[in-house]
Amino acid sequence: MALRSFPPGFVFGAATAAYQIEGAAFEDGKGLSIWDVFCRQPGRIENGERGDVACDHYHRWREDVSLMQRIGLGSYRFSISWPRVLPFGSGRANEAGLAFYDRLVDGLLEAGIAPCVTLYHWDLPQALQDLGGWMNRDTALRFADYADLLFGRLGDRVARWITHNEPLVTAEYGHRAGVLAPGIRDLRATARVIHHLLLSHGLAVRRFREQGRRGEIGITNANTSFEPADASDESRIACERARDFSTRTWHGPVYGRGYPPTVVEHYESHGAPFPIEPGDLECIAAKTDFLGVNLYSRSRIEADPERSIGFRAAKPELPTTPMGYEKAPFALGDFVRFVSAEYGRPPIIVTENGVCDDTAPANGRVDDVGRVELLRGFLAGLADAIADGSADVRGYYVWSLLDNFEWAYGTGKRFGIVWVDFETQKRIPKRSAEFYSDVIRRNGVEA
Ligand code: FCB
Repeated sequence: MALRSFPPGFVFGAATAAYQIEGAAFEDGKGLSIWDVFCRQPGRIENGERGDVACDHYHRWREDVSLMQRIGLGSYRFSISWPRVLPFGSGRANEAGLAFYDRLVDGLLEAGIAPCVTLYHWDLPQALQDLGGWMNRDTALRFADYADLLFGRLGDRVARWITHNEPLVTAEYGHRAGVLAPGIRDLRATARVIHHLLLSHGLAVRRFREQGRRGEIGITNANTSFEPADASDESRIACERARDFSTRTWHGPVYGRGYPPTVVEHYESHGAPFPIEPGDLECIAAKTDFLGVNLYSRSRIEADPERSIGFRAAKPELPTTPMGYEKAPFALGDFVRFVSAEYGRPPIIVTENGVCDDTAPANGRVDDVGRVELLRGFLAGLADAIADGSADVRGYYVWSLLDNFEWAYGTGKRFGIVWVDFETQKRIPKRSAEFYSDVIRRNGVEA
């Protein structure tokens, strides 16, 4: 084993999302989000769970900030609940909701931890969903106003902003497959949602620039490191299609390349065109300061002539986590190399990377050695890609600080480096938290 160091000034953090940890779903004037509604529909969430309480972070944030401090985090990435600050999505702001984020930001700064704010991590105000949600172009305009409200309120203390977390998931899983909120299955809706999410990103970045806000702003996309399943031409072509549908649809417009022709053609041939208006693509291409990369695994791709998209994921070759993701520690280094080559080596921040591992406490300790080994591999691959100049990566956030409400899986799938007992709300830092502290302290990983 040798120490693989990160560059000086590299930032290590942990990430969470509002609906997954806050709880207090009906307190202090918060409005309903699409997740409050979705979780109440029978059969949507495993065991009929809901995020009403989750990690009760809304009340326990001080304890959680102390945990972050003990681990040694340099930064903390969290998301704002839009309906907590704007109960109806637009109009009058909820002062109590804003005050919560004020306190959290101040508490982080006092603890020496830099806040990183995600504006949208999937919990749209239900009031906007009632007007069509992301299918309605107007939601993109409301998002820009909401972003503005937060820039104004927290911008004096927050220097890193993320517009969207994984818009692909909102479009694909929320509107095509219908397995996440708002639970719609409609390809026309999906095309509209893709475009309106990206448009809303561009509009928010534009506001940020127009007002000369300090700090940096970017978008975080969902990624998989795609590989052809074998050496055949069919698999190679299928893999390129997977990159078009998944990676390039979300990065292309942000980097001024527009939507991939294969994807445009697919949606158009299904009567589901992107509702692009003049000026939209210029707006989406507004300059960003960094690219947020979320990555959990790789996927081997092969052709599937039966499906109109023309490809599918081949059977996993490697052992998988309880989420079914292949344990592929090389995937993070591979992906940052790929995306850097593709888009001219933008500054990258790994905004999520982590491991589902359900190791439970024994004698008061959680020895999640499987998570530790996989994190070690991810970090080593990342350090190598930086060291050989393939990628300009500035920071890394582990997903997640806490075990939390894992969307349609409920609390059954654990990603935290801190164990949460959802009955008592007791937190226990796991072996992986000790490992991560060590990485942070040494600014490097032993691998
Ligand atoms: C990502 C999400 C995050 C969490 C992890 C496991 O896709 O951004 O909220 O669900 O996966």
